[in-house]
Amino acid sequence: MSILIKGGTVVTAEGTLDADVLVDGEKIAAVVTREAGGTVAERADEIIDATDRYVIPGGIDAHTHMEMPFGGTFASDTFETGTEAAAHGGTTTIIDFAVQAKGTGLEATLDKWHEKADGNCAIDYGFHMIVSDVNDATLKEMDALIGDGVTSFKMFMAYPGVFYATDGEILRAMQQARTSGGLIMMHAENGIAIDQLVAQALAAGRSDPVHHGLTRPPELEGEATHRAIVLAKVADCPLYIVHLSAAHALEAVAEARDDGQNVFAETCPQYLYLSLDDLARPDFEGAKFVCSPPLRTPDHASALWRGLRVNDLSVVSTDHCPFCFREQKELGRGDFSKIPNGIPGVEHRMDLLHQGVVAGEITLSRWVEICATTPARMFGLYPRKGTITPGADADIVIYDPVATQTISAATHHMNVDYSAYEGMEISGKVALTMSRGQVVVSDGQFRGPAGHGGFLRRDRCQYLF
Ligand code: URP
Ligand code: ZN
Ligand code: ZN
Repeated sequence: MSILIKGGTVVTAEGTLDADVLVDGEKIAAVVTREAGGTVAERADEIIDATDRYVIPGGIDAHTHMEMPFGGTFASDTFETGTEAAAHGGTTTIIDFAVQAKGTGLEATLDKWHEKADGNCAIDYGFHMIVSDVNDATLKEMDALIGDGVTSFKMFMAYPGVFYATDGEILRAMQQARTSGGLIMMHAENGIAIDQLVAQALAAGRSDPVHHGLTRPPELEGEATHRAIVLAKVADCPLYIVHLSAAHALEAVAEARDDGQNVFAETCPQYLYLSLDDLARPDFEGAKFVCSPPLRTPDHASALWRGLRVNDLSVVSTDHCPFCFREQKELGRGDFSKIPNGIPGVEHRMDLLHQGVVAGEITLSRWVEICATTPARMFGLYPRKGTITPGADADIVIYDPVATQTISAATHHMNVDYSAYEGMEISGKVALTMSRGQVVVSDGQFRGPAGHGGFLRRDRCQYLF
């Protein structure tokens, strides 16, 4: 079965091209400039009209948490609902986090996450591994996981008593990654200091959601980011900072990159579009915006946009971690520290970042680069994913740049009872999403088949080590 996507503007990280794209089975067979299109069209079984639309590589969301256990509850999207929502928003690959529980091995954890995801995903998926129990056995298993296609390992400087790792444990894991080529991903907040501020706030009766933000100041993200960078330098290991939110942290990353260190960072749409004011919404509504690191003041967002332009920030992921307002976020009424941390977003990353193009913050090619191409390279999926070129998987999105939509929980597909972007007017909309040659979404409808997505055995990070 071959399909010709005809008449569109192909947008890649390299630029734009008026070209038609021939899909043969699961792969892209040809990208043909308009003049040569006639002969190619004759070979296609089906033609899809993309006139006046962008033809872009499917988005890669390298940071999601489907069904994640957190604070006594589970993120409300399953692999099935979350990946279907992702497809609606033009994302064709997710990389989710398997979570090591203390006392459980990494291979056993990976098996458990395969049980959750395999056969249930609408789009292709990979895993990172959250390492929360550093010991000799775990370190050895990190090497085995790389052979299983799980080549990146997240560690936490936050959440003492849960995921937290000491500096010594982090250094040991970095040394291990150095020898095997794994990539250490870091949640960089000083959790020990934060826990003191949280205890002091609660003791003083400051229990509303806004205090989640006020007890996690940007300086403590900057400090932890700097410390992670220093540890990575000592271990001679590459480092990827996840969900960077603060200008202080960005400064540390920029300095390391200017020094030639292999340090990379992602930010997330919530840090570009939402702020501490949202956390301060009355009547506990601020709980909808509780995530860590927390939302910041708008000056941080300006710094992040600049970071995206100059490549101090290389990737935008969602950190999709949905908890319903009712019964889940409500666990923290009267005590902000009990609000499950996380914001839903997997469905709207491509749209939200397209607003950055509309507003002149980033170029069209940069949009594709930070949402698809760089994540593919960073996490060992390029050129199978993240670009439009012969031989690549036919993960293709047809995007209508002038269609408009209003984000709302009433119309979104994520399994969560609110939207952090409720009422936001968006210019641009996905017209069609194709996953390995299969149209999975068109005209706003999920076309399936359910369980179409396959596990991606990833290679090592493809940036210089
Ligand atoms: O608040 C957040 N970010 N929740 C998800 C877990 C994490 O730290 O990424
Ligand atoms: Zn984190
Ligand atoms: Zn996360």
